[in-house]
Amino acid sequence: MAAEPQMSSATEFTNPNLEVLFSEEQIRDRIAMLGRQITEDYAGKDLTLVGVLKGSCLFMADLMRQIDLTLTIDFMSVSSYKDGTRSTGDVEILKDLSNSIRDKHVIVVEDIVDTGLTLTRLLEILESRGAASIRLASFLDKPEPRIMKDLKIDYIGFTVPNKFVVGYGLDAAGRYRNLPFIAVVRDPARV
Ligand code: IMP
Ligand code: MG
Repeated sequence: MAAEPQMSSATEFTNPNLEVLFSEEQIRDRIAMLGRQITEDYAGKDLTLVGVLKGSCLFMADLMRQIDLTLTIDFMSVSSYKDGTRSTGDVEILKDLSNSIRDKHVIVVEDIVDTGLTLTRLLEILESRGAASIRLASFLDKPEPRIMKDLKIDYIGFTVPNKFVVGYGLDAAGRYRNLPFIAVVRDPARV
């Protein structure tokens, strides 16, 4: 007989297997600061935010509302972690930009930079497309496992320890993106 499927906890936001690392309020305050910084840095310029799906969805939505500039958005989707294990460095474009970035000031908006392989490859691809400038904003920076040491992250929300984190757009095998906070999964086997 097939094993019983594991019961989900009654509510996801109070799941005891999650240890909150950054609260909703901390995230809001930090993103307001980043938004002010970007607004100052790009004063007098138009800006295009390129979100990397799916993980950046919440960061993108909150960050753009804190940037008081003429702004457009676009999205890309690339394969990297293939269901929560490890990065290979092979980046496949699953969904490309809808519009040209030629002569645009671009900020690539990412959820987390870990080894840096995905972003390094993605930036190489975008840099060949004639943008006026390209910078990188990552909600989280996990510097310890970094392989691509030269990758410069221009705007960082928070730096995290070398643990698997979820929430606020980040997932473990598709789950937890809806958490309004960032958490560490205490027991990954339990998920
Ligand atoms: P990198 O190529 O190793 O830098 O991996 C980047 C991608 O891996 C991110 O955009 C995430 O989708 C995923 N990733 C890396 N670390 C974590 C984590 O702690 N939680 C959830 N996703 C992660
Ligand atoms: Mg990602």
